[in-house]
Amino acid sequence: MPKHSVIPGGDDEGSTVHRGANFPTHRPRVFSGIQPTADSFHIGNYLGALRQWVSMQETHETYYCVVDLHAITVDQDPALLRQRTRVAAAQLLALGVDPARSVLFVQSQVPAHTRLTWVLECLTGFGEASRMTQFKDKAARSGDGHASVGLFTYPVLMAADILAYQADAVPVGEDQRQHLELTRNLAQRFNSRYGHTLTVPEPFILKEVAKIYDLSEPTVKMSKSSPGGSLDLLAPVKQSVKKIKSAVTDNDREIRYDPAAKPGVSNLLTLLAILSDASIAELENSYSGKGYGDLKAALADVFEAFVTPLQERVAAYLTDPAQLDAILADGARRAAEVADVTVRTVFDRVGFLTAT
Ligand code: TYM
Repeated sequence: MPKHSVIPGGDDEGSTVHRGANFPTHRPRVFSGIQPTADSFHIGNYLGALRQWVSMQETHETYYCVVDLHAITVDQDPALLRQRTRVAAAQLLALGVDPARSVLFVQSQVPAHTRLTWVLECLTGFGEASRMTQFKDKAARSGDGHASVGLFTYPVLMAADILAYQADAVPVGEDQRQHLELTRNLAQRFNSRYGHTLTVPEPFILKEVAKIYDLSEPTVKMSKSSPGGSLDLLAPVKQSVKKIKSAVTDNDREIRYDPAAKPGVSNLLTLLAILSDASIAELENSYSGKGYGDLKAALADVFEAFVTPLQERVAAYLTDPAQLDAILADGARRAAEVADVTVRTVFDRVGFLTAT
């Protein structure tokens, strides 16, 4: 093979990191993902992550992924997974992820993710993976000895997702911080062993929305696995209004932001502040002397105003699954153009023979 046909970023190119190209910009790059494991995203997903996904399209080169490979780390019904993957994509589009400005795709359609995972797994310590708290929690829930190896290596696949795109920033909620730390460690480890190859990403976690809490148990994170206290974007609005009105608060009457002493009220204030574009201080002022019922009624109103048109847009996308699949297929093609460059470079640096 002539010397100059070696892969970009290989030996011949010194320490240059090739990032692939999809956009004619030099904007910093973002990657993030979400699992298609529920019939709807919840407001924690939206405020903690997806809202930033949408706004970062203005400033970054953005790659957003529905992570179906991650979904099968626990049992999934195949027909339901396929349906939820489309529903996830439809929600992202309806929330404002724009395929003209972002690469929106499904993880299983881009083989680079699993190819890079193997290399990263071989750099991950068994003890290091064992320390991941989400694994410990989910493994405990699935019963002793029943957790899959896939669930154990889940964070390494997540690292591969991010590193394949040489992402600079990763907008996520607080629960993903430890996985981001592992991702950074793996990138640094690869670079120090094989020469500078992978961008070390920064978590992008907004403090005030990093952890949205369960409405019925406001000291635990809102989660897909506890539907009782989660506020789902696609749930019937009446049901959500009912949940808001019966949200757990406390026994005094003061509307004040104090997450330690008043977790329920503080969570409602956070939700109302973001959805009504007000600051917490403004809300504390305007609700001084009013009751929790007033706060809940206001939140119910803004939530309804937010989800009603959103649900219509999602339904419209879902009437044409072929069009949705075409958007995702185009996204996968554009994603692969970038991720394949990284994998080729990584395989070369590790010492694999280049296929001719
Ligand atoms: P997932 O699907 O559980 O959640 C998607 C995003 O929503 C955030 N989130 C929350 N934020 C605030 N408050 C909450 N209660 C709340 N619940 C969820 C999550 O932090 C996440 O940002 N492992 C990831 C998916 C993933 C990924 C990636 C993310 C796979 N590969 C690469 C970023 C980069 C997950 O299970 O997210």
